[in-house]
Amino acid sequence: MKQFDFLVLGSGLAGLFFALKVAPPGRVAIVTKKSSAESNTNYAQGGIASVTSKEDSIEIHVRDTLRAGAGLCREEVVRAILADGPARIAELIEIGMKFSEREGSEGRELDLGREGGHSKRRILHAKDATGREIERALLAAAAARPNIEIFENHIAIDLITAQKAGGAAGETGAANRCLGAYVLDRNRNTIETFAARTVLLATGGCGKVYLYTTNPDIATGDGVAMAYRAGAAVANMEFVQFHPTCLFHPKAKSFLISEAVRGEGGILKNIAGVPFMDKYHPLKSLAPRDIVARAIDNEMKKSGQDHVLLDITRKPAAFLIERFPNIHSTCLQYGIDITREPIPVVPAAHYQCGGVVTTVDGQTEIPGLYAVGEAACTGLHGANRLASNSLLEALVCAHRAAERVRAHPDPAGEWALPPWQPGHAQNVDEMVVISHNWDEIRRMMWDYVGIVRTNKRLQRARSRIANLQEEIQQYYWDFIVTSDLLELRNIATVAELIITSALGRPESRGLHYNLDYPNPDPAWAQRDTVLRKPAAGGNESSKRLD
Ligand code: FAD
Ligand code: SIN
Repeated sequence: MKQFDFLVLGSGLAGLFFALKVAPPGRVAIVTKKSSAESNTNYAQGGIASVTSKEDSIEIHVRDTLRAGAGLCREEVVRAILADGPARIAELIEIGMKFSEREGSEGRELDLGREGGHSKRRILHAKDATGREIERALLAAAAARPNIEIFENHIAIDLITAQKAGGAAGETGAANRCLGAYVLDRNRNTIETFAARTVLLATGGCGKVYLYTTNPDIATGDGVAMAYRAGAAVANMEFVQFHPTCLFHPKAKSFLISEAVRGEGGILKNIAGVPFMDKYHPLKSLAPRDIVARAIDNEMKKSGQDHVLLDITRKPAAFLIERFPNIHSTCLQYGIDITREPIPVVPAAHYQCGGVVTTVDGQTEIPGLYAVGEAACTGLHGANRLASNSLLEALVCAHRAAERVRAHPDPAGEWALPPWQPGHAQNVDEMVVISHNWDEIRRMMWDYVGIVRTNKRLQRARSRIANLQEEIQQYYWDFIVTSDLLELRNIATVAELIITSALGRPESRGLHYNLDYPNPDPAWAQRDTVLRKPAAGGNESSKRLD
């Protein structure tokens, strides 16, 4: 058994920033399922929204966030997170993050981008590869701390709770408490037990639940699924944000065309080259994301086209190459010169607004378990996240969670956690059963639980996922665990949570659009969709401990 003070699951912005804050004096293990930089954070393009200019104010940022959130944000959480933004940005810069700058009237100043739903320029960015620069800076800082140990290619399987561990419950005296996690070392194919007094879920989102996504392969909703299995509350999973502009090219996997391109004047057009957003919203191509994604979906369905176009050719080539070097060079690799021709784009699953229910300090319902970043649901985003508010949330809430655990440390203890029991599991005999179910879930979610929903499609999805869940549970018992099997089990759980939440909200609000109830219902404003695992079902992984 490996024993640490803090076990951090995930090495994106949320996990790394928290680790840096608690590392001295705490001993921290960061467990991450691929290489340390591989995360949604690493692919973030547009930047971090925060008030840094004299023309802007926290009040205007709050107003924009509440408007995007369509009546479901928690205003006190919005105010707390946005107000803390500037101080945390200053800290990020001190750690080594280099944001793009420009010449201002009083010398060099931060360059501010604009994105949909923001009424001011307030997006701090590192050209169009902001996330890569965040990961570079934070990983360099973490490498300089001797008491942070990073375990790459280690995938967390399940949380260990006092309830699950049986005897340990008596020792802690708590009804339930998180004590650590079982982790698969992917290189050695062994399962290790990590014990810690505080566990942080910083496992990011679940874009891979959908067939088309901007997210990298790590985004399989593992943290949400693990927390749900451990008994934590999960909220608002119906609010899946579809980014309007993912590159449409048969060979391009999940490449985003940043909203900042529209912020700099990019115009959405149909295949015939006719702009169409003026029919949908006064802000046209810079309307909030849910509206733009639905408009594109509608245009594609009406015309039978499989994509639309994003045209930024009116800007000088030199500006585009300087401002969007990553997008320019990646599109060129696929034969598209963004300085001369429009970019083919489609909407794709991008961000999970719901997640594990937490306070603004990252506390979940289970003592000892914190969640921060995309895995968490604090109430900042409501029914629709304002662009570039997620990196800000990860940054601020990681700081606040660290402050919280410093002020209220979880009890230290040397619990004898039960080792993982493989039971009678065998090697998977046919990988095709795993890959088939992966594909089936992702297509079913895209077709039935996508941008526009209906009751009939959601009910169909519910019965399909119930069958798939039965099969997947059987594999989980019969086969020795692999990362593919673990992720399949997690995407199935998250798919079920999304479907159940969507069926539980009889209205359209923000990102959840149901043709059977096309309008918001005032009775549902400020009402979260909260799900907890029924106690009677027991916890699947605890059976392995029998
Ligand atoms: P992540 O950065 O996703 O990190 C999750 C970590 O957990 C990874 O290290 C992963 O390997 C690890 N992990 C997951 N499961 C396990 C497991 N079972 N065991 C061990 N490790 C695990 N937001 C903005 O605010 N501005 C932007 O400009 C922006 N652009 C984006 C562009 C793209 C293409 C994408 C995909 C997202 C973008 N977002 C943006 C959203 C934003 O990047 C994410 O919401 C944010 O980075 C999430 O940070 P995180 O630390 O919570 O999770
Ligand atoms: C983008 O650059 O368009 C992504 C911004 C975000 O998801 O917040």
